[in-house]
This record gives sequence, C-alpha cells and structure tokens, in this order.
Amino acid sequence: MIQKPKGTYDVYGEYGKKIKYVEELFTSLMEKYHYEYFRTPIFEASNLYHRGVGKTTDIVTKETYDFKDRGDRDMTLRPEGTAGIVRSYIENKLYGNQSLVKAWYYGPNFRYERPQSGRFREFYQFGVEVFGSDDPMIDAEVISIPVMIYQLLGLKGIKVNINSLGDKESRDNYHQALIEYFQPHIHELCSDCQERFTKNPLRILDCKVDGDSELLKNAPKIIDYLNEESKKKFEDLQKYLKALNIEYVINPNLVRGLDYYTHTVFEVEANVEGFGSQNVLCGGGRYDNLVENLDGPKTCGVGFAMGMERLMKALEYEDVHMHIHSDLDCYIIPLEDSAKDYAFNLCLNLRLNGFTVDIDYNNRNLKNNFKQADKLNSQFVIIVGNEEKETDIVSVKDNHTKESFKVKKDELISFFDENLEECCNCD
Ligand code: HAM
Repeated sequence: MIQKPKGTYDVYGEYGKKIKYVEELFTSLMEKYHYEYFRTPIFEASNLYHRGVGKTTDIVTKETYDFKDRGDRDMTLRPEGTAGIVRSYIENKLYGNQSLVKAWYYGPNFRYERPQSGRFREFYQFGVEVFGSDDPMIDAEVISIPVMIYQLLGLKGIKVNINSLGDKESRDNYHQALIEYFQPHIHELCSDCQERFTKNPLRILDCKVDGDSELLKNAPKIIDYLNEESKKKFEDLQKYLKALNIEYVINPNLVRGLDYYTHTVFEVEANVEGFGSQNVLCGGGRYDNLVENLDGPKTCGVGFAMGMERLMKALEYEDVHMHIHSDLDCYIIPLEDSAKDYAFNLCLNLRLNGFTVDIDYNNRNLKNNFKQADKLNSQFVIIVGNEEKETDIVSVKDNHTKESFKVKKDELISFFDENLEECCNCD
C-alpha cells in the first residue's frame, strides 16, 4: 500500500468540517478588517526565498524543498507566505495604485523539518501582509487579528509576546554588543550557534538547543539598544494594543527565526500546560526593508502567519466546541427504478434553492433508507415512486415530528421554508 509522505496528513470527516468552519471564519473576519485576498504560487524561484527569508535561516539552510524543473531552473516549494506576497506586490506594481495594500492569504507551505506533534512537512498558514504604512497602529491591528480569531473561536490559554528589533542603527549597536558578549563563550555554544555567531549573532537568541541556558538568558537585551525613534515606535505599539484591550508581555529574547524583521516582532503561544514544545500558534512582525531587498521601491511592511494545524490542536486540547451544522434538510428515497430520474431532478432543484439534500445512490430498501436518513440526521424524507412522478405530488415525512404530508412538487420550497427547523442539531 502506498502511504502518505512523512510529515503530511489527510483531512476528512469531523476534522474536515472543523477546518472548513475555521477557514470560513478567516474569510469573514478578513472582510470585516477590509483585507484583500491574495494567492501566490506554491513554488517560486529558489532565489526569492534565499534573498527574502534569509540565507542563514534554518528554513533556507536546512528545510526547503528544492528542485530543478525540466527547464533546469532552480525552484523551491513555498516554505512561508511573506516572500511570495512581497514578490507579487512588486511584480504587479501594487505600490503604484494605492498607498496601502492589506493582503490576506491561506495555503500550504513546505518545510523539511523533523515531524512531531504540531510540526509538519506540509502545513497550512493563514496570514496577512500590509504594505505602505509605518504607523505602529497597523502593527497593533495585525497583532489583533490572530487574537480576535482565537477569541472568536473560544480559545482561552493564549499568551501574546512582543518585542522590538528596532531600526538598522539600533540593531547594528546590538549586534556589536552580542558579539562582545558571546565572543569569550563561543565554545559553550552548540555547533549551529557557533556558525550563527559569525553569520548573524541575533539568531543565537532563537536557538532551540541553547535556548534555556544561563548564557542566553543573561545576554544583552535589544530593548537597551533601541534608539529614540525605535523606542517611540515600540511605546506607540503598546499604546494601541492597550486601546484594543489586548494583553501582552514583552519578551526581550524574542527575535523570530527569519531574517527580514525590523521594529515589531510578536508571537502568540498556547499557554496551556502539557501542550507540547511546538506551542507557537502564530508569529510575525514588521519588515521595512524586505520590499527594497527584493528589488521593489522602499516600502514598509508588517504581517503575521498562523499555523492551521497548531490552531486545530489548541482547539482540540482546550476541548473548544464549534457550532457545525452538517445535518441534512432532506433525504430523498426513490421507490422504483423508473422514478429515479424524477427524484434525481427534484434533488438538484432543492439543492439549487438552498437546501442541503441527498438521495439514495445505493438502491437500498425502504427500511434501510429510513435508517440512512436517521444516520444523516435529515429532518425531512421525501419518497418518490411512479405515482408521485405522475401526479407531481410527493410524500414528505418530518423525521422530527413524525408527521406525514402530501406536497405538490411546485410547493415544496415554500413548504420547507415554513417547516424547516433552524440549525436544529448544531453540536
Ligand atoms: P513562522 O514563525 O516561520 O513565520 O511561521 C508562522 C507559523 O506557522 C508558526 O507560528 C506555526 O504556527 C506555523 N508553522 C511553521 N512551521 C510549521 C511546521 N513545520 N508545522 C506546522 N506549523 C508550522 C512565518 O512563516 C512568517 N512568514 C510570518 C510572517 C508573516 N511574518 C511577517 N509576515
């Protein structure tokens, strides 16, 4: 038997219904926040990720799915959404039309990581990217989106961590302080961090191996190296978060694993005991140089992405109830072979009029068909035989009240409108 690739999963059944419910929430919330839907290819030129995400990041050095296409071009499966959206923003010259572009997206990403609970090789991200404003109010708006999603879904155990990486001047000063601090301790660092020390010492703070060591805990904090302008932006961000009643903590070691960030960075984690090590539900921040670094005009940007799988895990972990309505309004039973065409046409007609309808495709007997209608939680059952086909009057049974009716085919829609119970079996 051929099995699915390691680190991937199939969606079906109850899990599929829950995923669809959450996806619909994304769509409706983004409409209210007035964001535009974007979709970019799931593979791009490898260079986009090397230059966009950063050559020294774990994602690019260890995790990308790279391949040569048949035209001998270097391609990479999308490991994250930001770089592709930035590419699209530049290539489609969106900076020309509007001063502010607020984009949202949802789709699969691929990283060759060691699979474990909450970490997959194919995973879905929902995210937003906003171009054209350096006002910390938009950073606060971006942070509010995942927080609202978690709140609307009913997740309680979340913690919002924020930090600032400041502007270039602040980061350069901090970079120097980190080099001076870690230099005498290089041999105490893991092999990856020894490499990070020469390429990008900031990333040492993000190390999954050394993360809890005293050396890292006592490292200089970026907050002490922010210049006045960066400090003001960070204070303003906090003012706007407070205005939205969003609780947060400042985590001075939060640097994020991608190279493009400036000023605001944030992560929301599942703050529930026993959730597991992959507890970062989403992360993001500001990237004021990325558009320019990818050959676009100087444009600031800010965004975030949340992992769907971790969100679903958190919902399951907290046993959050979702109001999923998947019952049938009506189940149609053709009594004879010669009445099937009529029943089939009726089925489509009712569906097109907005009802959730299914029909027997297995030629079950009447008893088994009624059992099937019960199994599918159908409120109504329509029975169609040759007599019904000839008279255009069908037999309808209400499974909830156990009443039976004879209804003219032309009057079925108004009959359902009047008699269907609203969302009767929401769980
Ligand atoms: P990231 O922190 O690499 O950021 O990923 C964002 C979220 O995607 C994580 O918090 C996690 O929930 C989920 N995620 C990442 N890798 C995996 C995996 N292997 N399995 C399951 N879930 C995963 C970014 O991707 C940035 N592009 C976010 C951003 C947008 N920054 C600015 N704009």
